[in-house]
Amino acid sequence: MSANKKLLVLPGDGIGPEVMEQVVRVVDWFGANRAVGFDVKQDLVGGAAYDEHGTPLTDDTLAAAMDADAVLFGSIGGPKYDDAPRDKRPEAGLLKLRKEMELFANLRPALTFEGLLDASSLKEDVVKGLDMLIVRELTGGIYFGEPRGVETMANGKRRGFDTQTYDEDEIRRVAAVGFELARERRHKVHSVEKANVMESGVFWREIVTDLHRESYADVELEHMYADNCAMQLVRNPKQFDVIVTDNLFGDILSDCAAMLTGSIGMLPSASLGAPDETGRRKALYEPVHGSAPDIAGEGKANPCACLLSYSMMLRYSFGLSEEADLVDQAVANVLRSGVRTPDIMGDGDTAVSTEAMGDALLQELDRLSA
Ligand code: IPM
Ligand code: MG
Repeated sequence: MSANKKLLVLPGDGIGPEVMEQVVRVVDWFGANRAVGFDVKQDLVGGAAYDEHGTPLTDDTLAAAMDADAVLFGSIGGPKYDDAPRDKRPEAGLLKLRKEMELFANLRPALTFEGLLDASSLKEDVVKGLDMLIVRELTGGIYFGEPRGVETMANGKRRGFDTQTYDEDEIRRVAAVGFELARERRHKVHSVEKANVMESGVFWREIVTDLHRESYADVELEHMYADNCAMQLVRNPKQFDVIVTDNLFGDILSDCAAMLTGSIGMLPSASLGAPDETGRRKALYEPVHGSAPDIAGEGKANPCACLLSYSMMLRYSFGLSEEADLVDQAVANVLRSGVRTPDIMGDGDTAVSTEAMGDALLQELDRLSA
């Protein structure tokens, strides 16, 4: 691969910088050992950018993200920014990146690692062999819908409101991503909404049904209400292959799915835009976990979710599936060997630090490629 693919690294806040530090070691390892080199640029985002520049995302950083072949993102947010104005809060930086880069498809895979079965709060036979994918719509719905706000009504009382809105193109393009991915997997899609109470849910179901009939009849489609889906995720998660759902339900259901795997510290994600004429997609890769301010800076964070996000980047942005498999294998082997950060500790395990986990992962990469 040519050495000039542009990678923008945005560690962010909380545990973001410490998990990213370990991932950058792996990025360097691939540069040295596998000739997978990137022009790496690091920048601030979220609270870190707000502290430095007074905004969670500067125009320069946004421009660098738009220009990059891929963005690797840590996490943002923290109690320190609770009182900042809404448009200056760390989350606003991430939402702006997603919106401006038009990253409408957020892929959140949940799979259990053999070595981690005892870390799940669910029974082993419920989660063993789980391999599912949530495709969350990421640039529409109630996260961005207008009008929104808090206003004073005629009676002098105040009310707060948000708007859930989806047009047919927004639904169709994310559903198409779900169907396409299902074709490479087990050919099953659950489309999730609340058509029993929401007009936009009825509409979502109609558009997905039409698209399925027109273009994806070879894939099995089932519609499911979001509340039932939450229940089914903990009752019998292995019934799922691909779940396609809106921005808010996807946010909630993916946290739930994360815990099936033992820890939210294990879950990566890819946020993809539409392919351009050359087939290139804008893309941002980030762990599903947030900034975890309660453990930030203590060396307790699990770098696996961020590292697996890097693996998704190799796979989806650069077609380097062999290298991605190598990363995934290294993670699986290290977990099986009992090296665990505190979030995934089972009985009898001793916790290692974020950095020691990074050491173990690099050693395993050396061993696998020897
Ligand atoms: C996520 C996060 C974000 C979201 C926050 C940090 C804005 O929870 O990526 O799931 O709600 O989308
Ligand atoms: Mg979330």
